[in-house]
Amino acid sequence: MLTDKYNRTHNYLRISLTDNCNLRCFYCMPEEDYKFAPSSKLMQADEIEAIAGTFVKLGVNKIRLTGGEPLVRKDADKIIRSVAKFPVTLTLTTNGTRLHEFTGVLRDANIKSINVSLDTLDPEKFNLITRRNNFERVWQNIHLLIEEGIHVKVNVVAMKGLNDNEILDFIKWTKDTPVHVRFIEFMPFSGNKWTSNKVLTWQQILQIIETEYSFLPLRGEANDTAKKYIVPGHAGTFAIISTMTSPFCSTCNRMRLTADGKMKNCLFSKDEMDLLTAFRAGEDIEMLIRQSVSNKAKELGGQFSGNFEDLHSEEIENRSMIAIGG
Ligand code: GTP
Ligand code: 5AD
Ligand code: SF4
Repeated sequence: MLTDKYNRTHNYLRISLTDNCNLRCFYCMPEEDYKFAPSSKLMQADEIEAIAGTFVKLGVNKIRLTGGEPLVRKDADKIIRSVAKFPVTLTLTTNGTRLHEFTGVLRDANIKSINVSLDTLDPEKFNLITRRNNFERVWQNIHLLIEEGIHVKVNVVAMKGLNDNEILDFIKWTKDTPVHVRFIEFMPFSGNKWTSNKVLTWQQILQIIETEYSFLPLRGEANDTAKKYIVPGHAGTFAIISTMTSPFCSTCNRMRLTADGKMKNCLFSKDEMDLLTAFRAGEDIEMLIRQSVSNKAKELGGQFSGNFEDLHSEEIENRSMIAIGG
């Protein structure tokens, strides 16, 4: 078991397969000339299997594959199949553009739930946000997953002036479609031009929804990041991920492995543990993993707390979101 100083047990590992992506969302990727990690720096498929295996031995029972976009990696199929052999709940977070090419492996790997990013229901706005013309494909793929019986959580990064005028459209979508829509408070990462006045807060999102709908809170699970709700009679549900106004660090069970094999003990951690270099040198990574967990800060990587309105994103030392994987 991996337990930290605050008695939090860590059983959930997020593995980034690549820092590459086929979309260019401005809030995720720095605008300056972003250089993707060269393939020699990335964990190879067999290294992912071995390192993930060590985490499983230490008590991990849930693995989420992330990116960049995990499904742009050429050997994504092979990696999914290898990680699926572990006794874990396996899932992924994807931009949805390539899912139609992976239905076979998703079925074989027994994947029951997938998180898909979609910030707008307007194809034109999708092009503006992502700088790619892929709305229809993502839309079709979300419905394809639903037909396949896979539970879909749709991640909507909520931002003032960008998609606050679509909150009600997303709720309307849940009327007949069994999706779980999650509005995420915009978070600061290196190069993403975060400012506090762009954050649409949990309370503001609920206020918008209240203008047209009555809703009820749903009971959460132990390590949830999202506060869940239902509009009675709707086929789908919605939730809010409130890192900026109401962080949920006291129940955190997450660890991260970046595509270049560095362990992050928190989404906002400044320090990283280089597991891949140690693994390649034949060193014992179990000890390094334990050490990283025991160094975990109480909340938000120890980098900020309190009122997000006073936060200056330049003061936070971290990677860009595309190089963490969410
Ligand atoms: P499940 O709870 O397993 O469904 O996944 P998730 O919501 O953690 O994963 P996903 O990759 O879909 O991320 C959705 C949003 O939650 C993204 O904005 C992530 O950055 C954010 N998120 C994921 N994990 C954490 C976390 O540990 N802390 C914080 N503050 N945000 C997180
Ligand atoms: N703030 C909040 N969520 C973000 N994501 C990407 N960048 C940010 C950000 N700055 C979300 C995307 C993706 C998930 C992995 O992280 O919605 O689905
Ligand atoms: Fe866990 Fe860090 Fe996320 Fe808080 S911010 S929930 S400590 S990963």
